[in-house]
Amino acid sequence: MHPSDIQTYNEVALGVNAPIYAYYADRIVARTGVTSGGCLDIGCGGGYLGLALAGITDLDLVFLDQSPAMLACAEENIVRFGCRTRARTLLGRVQAIPLGEGSVDLAISRGSLPFWDDLAAAFGEIRRVLRPGGHAYVGGGLGDPATRAELERQRNRLHPEWGAKNRRPPQRADREYIDALQSAGIDLFRIDRGDDGLWITFRREAA
Ligand SMILES: C[S@@+](CC[C@H](N)C(=O)[O-])C[C@H]1O[C@@H](n2cnc3c(N)ncnc32)[C@H](O)[C@@H]1O
Repeated sequence: MHPSDIQTYNEVALGVNAPIYAYYADRIVARTGVTSGGCLDIGCGGGYLGLALAGITDLDLVFLDQSPAMLACAEENIVRFGCRTRARTLLGRVQAIPLGEGSVDLAISRGSLPFWDDLAAAFGEIRRVLRPGGHAYVGGGLGDPATRAELERQRNRLHPEWGAKNRRPPQRADREYIDALQSAGIDLFRIDRGDDGLWITFRREAA
């Protein structure tokens, strides 16, 4: 993204779109029950989902992105949210996560999945860095329908240029996800396509 686009993205994410991240942070805690240990936010952008999760848990956060500019933005937000002592950024791609095996309890990602090529490598890496029994919660969406409609109204008023610059990336069929998950050795997973987006969840099998 161009620096001025990152600035607008950040403004929207911290302002009008903030309830989206709070919504998914609540969902992640409700679904996984993970509230302490280490969490990896993949394709974190400015770190919005991980920071929302930090606000309601005791998790320590690692923010991974392939873009140094997005990580610089995440650094600023980590300080802004008072999370300096429990968060760090990490430059890298989901297809080769620069972390050791079994090093996180929870892997989360929002809005980055559609951009991942080599999905099997991506899921294999997520599985590798999870500790046995650890949870993955990755996908994308704009929250529940009611909040989404309200946010879209506000965003069109405050940032009319937003829609044109942030078109939805092409969507994949479930078959592609299923094939990639299975070739990464993940046999138990869920793919939920609902009112609040597309979300893939799985656990690394216990040792
Ligand atoms: C639309 S932004 C989403 C940012 C943030 N997670 C959010 O929900 O607002 C997608 C992010 O994924 C990152 N990304 C795309 N492909 C990636 C990959 N293969 N590995 C790591 N990060 C990636 C981009 O650099 C970008 O910051």
